[in-house]
Amino acid sequence: RILILDFGSQVTQLIARRVRESGVYCEIMPFSVEEERIRSFAPKGVILSGGPASTTSEGSPRAPELIFEMGVPVLGICYGQQTMAMQLSGEVEGSDHQEFGKAFLEVRKASPLFEGLWDVGERHQVWMSHGDRVAALPAGFEVIGTSEGAPCAAVADEQRRYYGVQFHPEVVHTPDGGRLLANFTHRIAGCRGDWTMAAFREQAIAAIRHQVGDGRVICGLSGGVDSSVAAVLLHEAIGEQLTCIFVDHGLLRQGEAEQVVEVFRHHYNIPLVARDASELFLGKLEGVEDPEEKRKIIGNTFIDVFDEEAAKVGGADFLAQGTLYPDVIESVSFTGGPSVTIKSHHNVGGLPERMQMRLVEPLRELFKDEVRVLGRELGLPESLVGRHPFPGPGLAIRIPGPVSREKADILRKADAIYLDEIAKAGLYDAIWQAFAVLLPVRTVGVMGDARSYDFVCALRAVTSTDGMTAESYPFDHGFLAGAATRIINEVRGVNRVVYDVTSKPPGTIEWE
Ligand code: XMP
Repeated sequence: RILILDFGSQVTQLIARRVRESGVYCEIMPFSVEEERIRSFAPKGVILSGGPASTTSEGSPRAPELIFEMGVPVLGICYGQQTMAMQLSGEVEGSDHQEFGKAFLEVRKASPLFEGLWDVGERHQVWMSHGDRVAALPAGFEVIGTSEGAPCAAVADEQRRYYGVQFHPEVVHTPDGGRLLANFTHRIAGCRGDWTMAAFREQAIAAIRHQVGDGRVICGLSGGVDSSVAAVLLHEAIGEQLTCIFVDHGLLRQGEAEQVVEVFRHHYNIPLVARDASELFLGKLEGVEDPEEKRKIIGNTFIDVFDEEAAKVGGADFLAQGTLYPDVIESVSFTGGPSVTIKSHHNVGGLPERMQMRLVEPLRELFKDEVRVLGRELGLPESLVGRHPFPGPGLAIRIPGPVSREKADILRKADAIYLDEIAKAGLYDAIWQAFAVLLPVRTVGVMGDARSYDFVCALRAVTSTDGMTAESYPFDHGFLAGAATRIINEVRGVNRVVYDVTSKPPGTIEWE
């Protein structure tokens, strides 16, 4: 097991993810954690994350001295490297050569960290983000890699097994970063690499039982992957102590509400309250154009309805949510600036404060693809586990401008046809998310011999690994033309179809 000490980098969870990918169990703790917890965790290696502070400023965070006394290997990343250098009597300086983004590491010396990966003299792409840099190495250290802006881009004390890198191996822009971290966890720290999602399942179940005791839990089901996996995991952990609540806001995809009832009530026998609140939601959304306003209305109404249903269930002590790591941090900034609110995701705010219940969030550390693996592990049907992500506010944020039941119905049909075509072409799993958007624009067309004046439907499909960045999916033209023809022929109210080719950034995946 590996301990990751967090100095506040926005990508600390990515380190955890890479370590898990190397088949090694890890936990993240704040840098200020009590030494006792570190001792009882008994890590085989410690990774120090990056962070927004400057080691040269007074009062900046330091790693607990204990980790340098335990005789275990330590890997410092960016800020972690700098504080390690300082704490072991090296020096760090502000640099006038800041490096942000892509850089090249020149390998100077062989090291177990690079073994099987990088040879001396080679240059490899890495991702940098730093102003400060290590200026003088502590005794015992030597440089094993350099970059233009960082003479100490990679350093090692092979004797004590201390390593420091100025770049971020955990991000995808360091293409070999995952394997480099695996070198640390396997070769250097000696972890076996046999940890799997099955082990996560056991640990998560034990943790839920420990947290909940004999308390009662209610869990909001949305029909999406995250809350479904959370619900089944909880049910496995605490059985009848769990009640699920499903609120249909009238803005779901075709067939979704029915599927939720089928799978959870009938297949899993999970106590489920299903409430059709579409009238209420659509009524409140009438005439509302502003995306944030829509999100707030849906979020607040959702809380009201959920609260009402929860009160009927009576006496729950805990509220369970399928919150994932990317829900917690939406905008990744490598510069350490505060993360800004791009969109208020309604599933992470509001409910807990209002309900005054303690939270159970068993998926909080996972990324979407990891949740899918866990879902399969739990035996959830592929149609649910493999399903594309769907936002809490649903179709409301795929209908720019005012939302109505009529528009939602049009969009549901177009969306279902589009997804059907994607499935038939065998492309569903190659795509992170695909959906139709109904634009508040009418254009002229000719259908049969008549003039039409109907809505424009936009199609969106993106590839992504975590929803934080995305590329438009490169369909061939024939596919798009085929889908467009079907939508126009089969959906009344749409007479033109366009394809969205925007990446994220600068676009977002959803249109609102
Ligand atoms: P954006 O549009 O911000 O979306 O690029 C990134 C991912 O998040 C989903 N999304 C949401 N999910 N509640 C959710 O549960 C929301 O309010 C919400 N808004 C966006 C989006 O579908 C994509 O997968």
